[in-house]
Amino acid sequence: MEITILGIESSCDDTSASVVRNEVLLSNVMANQDVHSKYGGVIPELASRAHQQNILPVVDMALKLAETELKDIDAIAFTRGPGLLGSLLVGTSFAKGLSIALNKPLIDVNHLQGHILSHFIKEPQKEKNHPSFPFLCLLVSGGHTQIVRVDDYLKFEIIGQTIDDAVGEAFDKCAKIMDLGYPGGPVVDKLAKEGNPKAFRFSKPRIADLNYSFSGVKTSLLYFLRDSIKEDPEFVSRNINDLCASFQHTLIEILMDKLLLAVKKTGIKEIAIAGGVSANSGLRERILSEGRSRGWNTYVPEFKFTTDNAAMIAITGYYKFKSGHTCDLDVTPVSRILDYA
Ligand code: KG4
Ligand code: ZN
Repeated sequence: MEITILGIESSCDDTSASVVRNEVLLSNVMANQDVHSKYGGVIPELASRAHQQNILPVVDMALKLAETELKDIDAIAFTRGPGLLGSLLVGTSFAKGLSIALNKPLIDVNHLQGHILSHFIKEPQKEKNHPSFPFLCLLVSGGHTQIVRVDDYLKFEIIGQTIDDAVGEAFDKCAKIMDLGYPGGPVVDKLAKEGNPKAFRFSKPRIADLNYSFSGVKTSLLYFLRDSIKEDPEFVSRNINDLCASFQHTLIEILMDKLLLAVKKTGIKEIAIAGGVSANSGLRERILSEGRSRGWNTYVPEFKFTTDNAAMIAITGYYKFKSGHTCDLDVTPVSRILDYA
């Protein structure tokens, strides 16, 4: 039986719509919001207004590119959370409106689950390996840093997570301190390529179990720069590549230390990464090289599925629909979702 899902994502500053038919991606359309860059971060009110402007053309384009009409859609999947409430409201309300107008079921999707399940998106005429269950996923985004044990498409357990900042936030704050613009992660990544990762050392946190902390390393960078600038006002511009490479290296070390511990504790050697920070070239290389030397099977997402996109919401919607999960029209968006249940 063919199942066709329309996915809608609007959790932060990207408006996206996608059509998936039986795990195969037919379209994935995205409208980014440039309006935030001059403020150095996402402004929630501007984000929700831009979503309102973008959502109709984005959905329309996703249907056209998929050569699909609304009548062929079996269900509408949308991001319920976590994210910015005003942004989530736009996607949720739009999905509800479509559901009423078309008399088609509605499926609420956890954005983080979407990031993880993006590994299962198939593309026409493309061979791709996906993780087998159980696998561990290092989920690294602007709002979250978690190690998740995945036992099935819809069975997740968070076995470790950050107690303060997310790693994407650490990248963004590092870039902000050094005046590199927003979002900082891709800029730091690019500058780090030309730098020495061992040039400077930043303190690593001591946190119990499989949990993370990233607020200390950011403060360590801040104090180090404050002291160095006193002696040389041009210190940052003179050392920008080494600073980015060393800071990025420290973040990757922190991520890997706990991932190695998670592998040791669980014995699972199927390892995936997901979320915006999984676009980082240093992290991608490190996961692949650890995998080779330790005999893991590693899964690194394609760049287009690392940052927020609706394809991951549509594929998650597909698995939920197949398992009989739909939601009622009185569903409300939630800015924080504490678990995957
Ligand atoms: O998953 P995502 O698109 O949105 C959230 O769900 O949060 O992640 C956005 C985060 C931002 O913090 C951004 O700086 C980071 O992903 N990011 C990167 C790279 N590309 C995006 N961080 C490091 N290196 C990159 N290449
Ligand atoms: Zn995300």
